[in-house]
Amino acid sequence: MKKSIFAAIGTLILVGCVSQKKEAETEYDLTMSNIKHGLIFGPPVRTRMMTRDMSSVKRGEAVFKRRCEICHGVRAEGNGAASRSLKTNPANLRKLAKQFPDHHFFIQISKGRGEMPNWENLLSDRDLWDLTNYIQSLARGN
Ligand code: HEC
Repeated sequence: MKKSIFAAIGTLILVGCVSQKKEAETEYDLTMSNIKHGLIFGPPVRTRMMTRDMSSVKRGEAVFKRRCEICHGVRAEGNGAASRSLKTNPANLRKLAKQFPDHHFFIQISKGRGEMPNWENLLSDRDLWDLTNYIQSLARGN
């Protein structure tokens, strides 16, 4: 009896390690417990990163115009028309581009932050990756 429990635990640990190793680079866990003080912790599991190609960036730009520009501004610098009615300034995404890894943006947009609503129910994973790709493409020198 005892032996089989240990065997079961051993198998679980083994499976855990293997799957984590395989997917660590591309899959992210979106549970709230993963965000503390704006930083992201914990092993990734749920969504697969999308390639950053021009068509993704373009789609991201379109979603940005429709959903985000009102607060973050035309140039994504945090000065959109609605930003004046907020207590916190919307982030200057142009400045933050490439300062954080992709999954940081993905999770912040998905889960929302402070006065920014969460977008996970309105936008698909693809939209969120397209937005992430768009934001990252705004970095200087890109
Ligand atoms: C209602 C206004 C509003 C809208 C609409 C909005 N945001 Fe925000 N956003 C904010 C505010 C305010 C913050 C700063 C929150 C804080 O730090 O407390 C923020 C923060 C962020 C951050 C976190 C940056 C960081 O790492 O510090 C990202 C990324 C972001 N917004 C992207 C987006 C995207 C993409 C959209 C469109 C899907 C969007 N936002 C729509 C107001 C908005």
